[in-house]
Amino acid sequence: MTSKSALRLVGPFLIGFALLAVSGCGTEHVFERGTRNPMGPTNDGPPSFAQDVLPALSSCISCHGSGTGNWVYDGGADAYNQVLEQIDSESPAASGVLVKGSGGDSHGGGSHFSVGSADYNAILAWIEDGAGDN
Ligand code: HEC
Repeated sequence: MTSKSALRLVGPFLIGFALLAVSGCGTEHVFERGTRNPMGPTNDGPPSFAQDVLPALSSCISCHGSGTGNWVYDGGADAYNQVLEQIDSESPAASGVLVKGSGGDSHGGGSHFSVGSADYNAILAWIEDGAGDN
């Protein structure tokens, strides 16, 4: 077999691999502008309460908006302070908002995001970054 015909055989595979590398593997690292970053915060800057945490907690309002389960969270003007009540800055992953939100500690409201999901990571990153009102 000449090296030319060998290339003819291997060529398509090389192209296939190149396409796979571009499209398939590593899609979790490819973000479109304006979409949520599956690895954490949505924006290019530091983790943001308004952009990352508020959207991740929207499903909590149906119950906690009326104070169900000893936590008032209505997503409104006081949302930041309401979330702070469920933050453990010493041990971010132990924060009530993450533990209960992911269905841990027998949460009466079940699971709303799994540990390691985009929402979970976004909230965790925000707490680790100092839980600012940003
Ligand atoms: C279907 C209703 C429902 C939804 C939706 C819900 N919860 Fe709950 N939650 C409860 C109930 C009931 C309790 C009380 C029992 C318990 O402690 O798990 C509770 C308790 C909690 C507590 C403990 C409050 C305290 O100080 O004792 C936290 C924190 C919490 N939920 C976070 C969340 C988060 C975060 C979300 C959204 C991601 C959420 N919940 C969505 C029903 C709900």
